[in-house]
Amino acid sequence: MIQAPKGTKDILPKDVYLWHHIEDAARRTAEAYAFKEIRTPVFEHTELFVRGVGDTTDIVNKEMYTFLDKGGRSITLRPEGTAGVARAFIENGLVSEALPAKMYYFISAFRYERPQAGRLREFHQFGCELYGAAAPEADAEVISLADSFLRSLGLKEVELRLNSIGCKMCRAAYHAALKEYFRPHLSEMCADCNARFEKNPMRMLDCKEEGCRAVTAGAPKILDYLCDDCRKHFEEVKRLLDDTGIKYTVDAGIVRGLDYYSRTVFEFVTKAAGAQGTVLGGGRYDTLLEQMGAKPLPAVGFAVGMERLLMVIAAEHAPVPEERGVTCYLAGMDETCRKKAFALATELRRAGISAETDLMERSVKAQFKYADKKGARFVAVIGESELEAGEAQVKDMQDSSSERVKFGELCTYFKKKTEV
Ligand code: HAM
Repeated sequence: MIQAPKGTKDILPKDVYLWHHIEDAARRTAEAYAFKEIRTPVFEHTELFVRGVGDTTDIVNKEMYTFLDKGGRSITLRPEGTAGVARAFIENGLVSEALPAKMYYFISAFRYERPQAGRLREFHQFGCELYGAAAPEADAEVISLADSFLRSLGLKEVELRLNSIGCKMCRAAYHAALKEYFRPHLSEMCADCNARFEKNPMRMLDCKEEGCRAVTAGAPKILDYLCDDCRKHFEEVKRLLDDTGIKYTVDAGIVRGLDYYSRTVFEFVTKAAGAQGTVLGGGRYDTLLEQMGAKPLPAVGFAVGMERLLMVIAAEHAPVPEERGVTCYLAGMDETCRKKAFALATELRRAGISAETDLMERSVKAQFKYADKKGARFVAVIGESELEAGEAQVKDMQDSSSERVKFGELCTYFKKKTEV
């Protein structure tokens, strides 16, 4: 038996209603903030991610699913959504449309990581990107969207961590300070960190190795190196969040694992879901679009991991809607009755009422058992006498009450009964 590749997960019919629940909430929230959906390809030219996500990141160095296609092109399954959305935005000339542009997406993404709870090789994200606005209001709006989304799911223990990693200017001074700090410790740090030291010392702060973490704990903090403009921007973002009543903790340890960020970075974290504490991550990335060949255009966005979100929902016992079974199962006593049940099921379906009927030539008793297992709200039984009277015996499976309803009135009956 061929099994699913390591790090992938099937989403089964019995669980899919939970996905619909969070996707509905995501769509509702994004559209309330006037974001529109965008869909981009699952694979892109490898170069897009090398340039976009950055060649000093673990994602690009270790985790990408990259292969040559039959035409000899280097192709990569997207490890995240931001780079592809930026490419699509530029390539389709959306730069010349009304700004700011606001887009959201649902994607599957692929990273060759060591699988564990909440860490998969194929996972799913809901993300939002906002282009064209440099003002701190844009950062606050995107953070507020993320916050509203998580709150709309009833999550209470997810906390916002906020930081600023400055711009190119302030980062030059910070990199110098980091290098000075790390230089005497290099022999205690992993090979990756030694490589990061030359190329991008800030990446060292994100290292997960125990030995490296002990060293990075005492490293200089970026917030002490912000230039005046970046400091003002950060102060303003915090003020806007305070004004909107969004609680946060400033956390200098948040540097994010992708290279495109500048200024505001943020994560929503929780202790509820075990080792993988970060549910949602994002930030400002003002140089990415220019790096990809467009005119300079500021940008800010985030993505939330759907699998992690589901783990948090379960851990927090957040309310989820009940899975709904079919509205009516039509059971027929014999072959003629089953034919009538089939015709009535079609009528109900055409009227938008979910209906099911026997496809297995089962006895009425077995049909009832099936309807019960599948959570049918009503079972309408048609026997010889019902057929003669032109009526069905409708049983309410919630309270076990029963009544006879004329065939011609079944649609209206179920519509009324299931009205909310
Ligand atoms: P990221 O922090 O790499 O950011 O991923 C965002 C979220 O995706 C994480 O917080 C996590 O919930 C989920 N995630 C990441 N890797 C995995 C994995 N291997 N298994 C399961 N879930 C995972 C980005 O992807 C940026 N593109 C976010 C962004 C959008 N920044 C600006 N705009």
